[in-house]
Amino acid sequence: MLPDEQLMDEFTERMIDHAHNPRNLGTIPDPHGVGRTTSSCGDWVQMALRLDDRRRISECRFTAYGCGSAVAAASVLTEMAQGKTINEAARIQPEDVVSYLGGLPEHKTHCSQLSYTAFIEAVRAAANGDALELA
Ligand code: FES
Repeated sequence: MLPDEQLMDEFTERMIDHAHNPRNLGTIPDPHGVGRTTSSCGDWVQMALRLDDRRRISECRFTAYGCGSAVAAASVLTEMAQGKTINEAARIQPEDVVSYLGGLPEHKTHCSQLSYTAFIEAVRAAANGDALELA
C-alpha cells in the first residue's frame, strides 16, 4: 500500500483536509480567553478567543505544535465555536469533534482531546467568573 493510500485508509477526507489546511490558525491580540495544553507526547495546542458585545464568540484561533489529528481537531473547534455564547461553547463535547471528523483511530483520540482541553480552558477563561452551564 502506498503512503497516501494508508493515510486515506486511517483518516477521513475531512480530517486530512483540516490537518493540511487548518482554519483560523494564529493568535488574537488582546483575547478574552486563552487555554494551552501540553500532551504527554510533548505536543501542545493553544486556543484563544474573543467575545463580541453580546458575549458571543466572534473570533477563535489556535496555534499548535502537534500531529495532524490535534491540528484537525483544533481547526474544527475554531469553526464550531464561531458565533456561540460561552455556555453554548462549553457544551461542545470531545465526541462532537471526533464525530465531525468522521472518526479517528483509537490511538489518535488523545490528540483531539488535547485540542479540546485547550479550548475548554479558553472558554472558562473567557467566562471570567460567570457560572458555566456545562453539559
Ligand atoms: Fe501527540 Fe497527537 S501524537 S498530540
